Amino acid sequence: MGTRRVLVTGCSSGIGLAVAARLANDELRRFKVVATMRDLGKRGPLEKAAGDSLNKTLEIKQLDVCCEASIRECVNSLPDRRVDVLVNNAGVGMIGPLECQSIDVMRELFDTNFFGLARLVKELLPDMKRRQSGHIVVMSSVMGIQGILFNDVYSASKFAVEGFCESLAVQALKFNIKTTLVEPGPVVTEFERKVYEDAEKMDLSGTDEETAKIFREVYLPYSKKIFASLGQTPEEVAEQTVKVITAEEPPLRHQTNRLYMPMTALKHADPTGRLPLDTFYKMTFKHDRVFNATLGVMRILQRMAGKK
Ligand SMILES: NC(=O)c1ccc[n+]([C@@H]2O[C@H](COP(=O)([O-])OP(=O)(O)OC[C@H]3O[C@@H](n4cnc5c(N)ncnc54)[C@H](OP(=O)(O)O)[C@@H]3O)[C@@H](O)[C@H]2O)c1
Repeated sequence: MGTRRVLVTGCSSGIGLAVAARLANDELRRFKVVATMRDLGKRGPLEKAAGDSLNKTLEIKQLDVCCEASIRECVNSLPDRRVDVLVNNAGVGMIGPLECQSIDVMRELFDTNFFGLARLVKELLPDMKRRQSGHIVVMSSVMGIQGILFNDVYSASKFAVEGFCESLAVQALKFNIKTTLVEPGPVVTEFERKVYEDAEKMDLSGTDEETAKIFREVYLPYSKKIFASLGQTPEEVAEQTVKVITAEEPPLRHQTNRLYMPMTALKHADPTGRLPLDTFYKMTFKHDRVFNATLGVMRILQRMAGKK
């Protein structure tokens, strides 16, 4: 296989930045990276991470996944419009009681997390079909498999992404185009900082006192503990993304965090949905000591496994 051109979205920070830098610095020089971001003013950290690869195996371009014109302009600027691998990574988060979130804000989240993917695929799929080759890699989440308390809208956007890709994958395969959903658990990035910052500022007057209390006193501390115990680095997720891109037979789904897998496995163990529902309910409201102890054990396992 020759050098492949990989277009990555959302490279100003976090996973996108790590994936772009990792691919550009690949020892075997297998990739030419088009690292994109909506605001080129934020290119500093990527330039630093790219190091010597900048303007050699990595070029930085503007692309806003919410703007069709910017997607087209970016793709048109590439020789033959060729993109061998799309890494659809740009995404935003949102947590909190549903009653405190406006429909407009929910729409904005879907515009980035779901319609952003749809726009990119619409632009690139016809070319990939003509060439009878390509790989669509999508940064989904474990929340695209299993919904989590107070993540209703974010989780819904990742379920949308999962359904879209699962359907598309069949048609794409007919044209020799591969599809992969990368499903990280918690990853310590700007994403985490931004959602907690928004949560602290959130006006909870739209919901009842009990819900507000559960969000503030149960969900937020638990969620922070989960990030501290199970959180991966963006570099770890990038390493696994590269494995997926270079696999001879890329999987449709790839979960990056082995420690999180028991949680997602519950879903498949009981088609009625009772098992994951009961488990998450009890973990949250009844057995907080067991939950905290489990996180403690996981933290130790994580350290012992060298954070694999
Ligand atoms: N962190 C986690 O725990 C976690 C877990 C599972 C999955 N994920 C997924 O991983 C992906 C990357 O998240 P991250 O953790 O790396 O978060 P991050 O550090 O906040 O990065 C998100 C990136 O998306 C970009 N972005 C947002 N809206 C955009 C738009 N309209 N057009 C182009 N770029 C846009 C951001 O750009 P700006 O700097 O301009 O905002 C930023 O570069 C997301 O899809 C997220 O859902 C994250």
